[in-house]
Amino acid sequence: LVLVVDYGSQYSRLITRRIRENEVYSEVVFPDDPVDLSKVDAVVLSGGPKSVYEEGAPGLPEWFREYRGPVLAICYGMQLIVKEFGGEVKRGRGEYGRTLVELSEDPLFEGIPDRIHVWMSHGDEVVKLPEGFHPIAVSETGVIAAATDGKRFWLLQFHPEVHHTEYGDRMISNFLFNVCKLEKNWKIGDLVEEKIRHIKETIGNKKAILALSGGVDSSVAAVLVHRAIGKNLVCVFVDHGLLRKNEREEVERVFKEHFDMNLVVVDARKRFLEKLRGVTDPEKKRKIIGEEFIRVFEEEAKKHDVEFLVQGTIYSDVIESAASGKTTAKIKSHHNVGGLPEKMNLKLVEPLRDLFKDEVRKVGKYLGIPDRIINRHPFPGPGLAVRVLGEVTEEKLEILREADYIFIETLRKHDYYDKVWQAFAVLLPIKSVGVKGDARAYEYVVALRAVNSVEGMTADWSRIPHDILDEASRRITREVKGVGRVVYDITSKPPATIEWE
Ligand code: XMP
Repeated sequence: LVLVVDYGSQYSRLITRRIRENEVYSEVVFPDDPVDLSKVDAVVLSGGPKSVYEEGAPGLPEWFREYRGPVLAICYGMQLIVKEFGGEVKRGRGEYGRTLVELSEDPLFEGIPDRIHVWMSHGDEVVKLPEGFHPIAVSETGVIAAATDGKRFWLLQFHPEVHHTEYGDRMISNFLFNVCKLEKNWKIGDLVEEKIRHIKETIGNKKAILALSGGVDSSVAAVLVHRAIGKNLVCVFVDHGLLRKNEREEVERVFKEHFDMNLVVVDARKRFLEKLRGVTDPEKKRKIIGEEFIRVFEEEAKKHDVEFLVQGTIYSDVIESAASGKTTAKIKSHHNVGGLPEKMNLKLVEPLRDLFKDEVRKVGKYLGIPDRIINRHPFPGPGLAVRVLGEVTEEKLEILREADYIFIETLRKHDYYDKVWQAFAVLLPIKSVGVKGDARAYEYVVALRAVNSVEGMTADWSRIPHDILDEASRRITREVKGVGRVVYDITSKPPATIEWE
């Protein structure tokens, strides 16, 4: 296990990911988390936003005094080690962004040219190294960019984990295999089997329940737990009437027929639509749907004698909820099935909690889940309710479903679905004038949206080839009754959000 101590850097998760990509297991901890040292092979100290001399700047973890293994200390981590071991750190001119550095010979830099560009982001700098340390890299402005004691400590002022650093991956693999002499022993298959064993142990012959949305995370969690406890897992799929075309049938086909799971489909379409009648405010819609969802789910849970609640929480959810402090403004309240456990008094099982999205997909592939589900675009919990702008009616949902279906099928046909992060149609609450045949038409406007993004926090509108957009537009205006105009959204996030509501 390689432990990454997170000092608040936006890159800590990336370090873990880079390590796992080398088939070595890694986890992130905060400096004051307790740690079982017998499991730790190496430690990475991450960067962080503070200066080591600032009031309240986090220090080395308690357990670090007993730890005797190798350490890779990055940015803030480097300055912390220097300060704690008798060197000196001072406020400097700062280096930000691409910086040229000159490397000396060292196991950490094996196979890397002498002069490379690295990614820097620091205000303080090391002016004197602790005794026994020597520099192994110097930046173009003369700042110590890397140092080591040749025994346990490797210190980097720059960030090897970001891809702007040339040979950053090589430095990380050099650290793991050259310096720490670790073995590649972390494989998805082992991980899955280990998880299945663990779930069996935890749940035993009791029953568990899970809200299946058909999205990647809940699908993978469902199949994984099903592998462990079989039909004792009750999967509840709530059809709230805000789903895309064929969605419910697809979920039934995959999970009931293909995987032979214990799937309960609740038809709650009427309930949701009634609750949404007359509601136009997006946040109100979300609130109503979130609450109603919990109610439906609770009613279902009561029918089965369940003790455990399985959730498809993944690593980024954990980190985001830990990091989303008081300072982040609420833009939209993202209702999924969060908040269920406290109310329901069930024991929580979250088998994907330590995995990144791409790892969840690998697990899904290993478990034999079809690509169509694994590579699905994200879909919001409130579904089409936030894509029918204004009041939601069955008539409007039907129009949107058809338009959205055509857009997505067109992307698939041209091999473009996997090239965008998320794509969908939106039904605008306005009508516009057109001409069909020789007559004047006055019909709805559909907006198409497609974005490229990494995690949805920021996004750029996708430059979909015009011919593909043209085909989608022609088909939608021709085949979907009630739509007279199609527009394409060319706004990025920020300033817009990905969804229109
Ligand atoms: P926005 O519109 O905030 O969307 O830029 C970012 C990502 O989150 C999804 N989204 C939601 N997901 N419940 C969800 O589960 C919601 O209420 C919700 N609103 C937006 C959106 O589809 C995009 O992937």
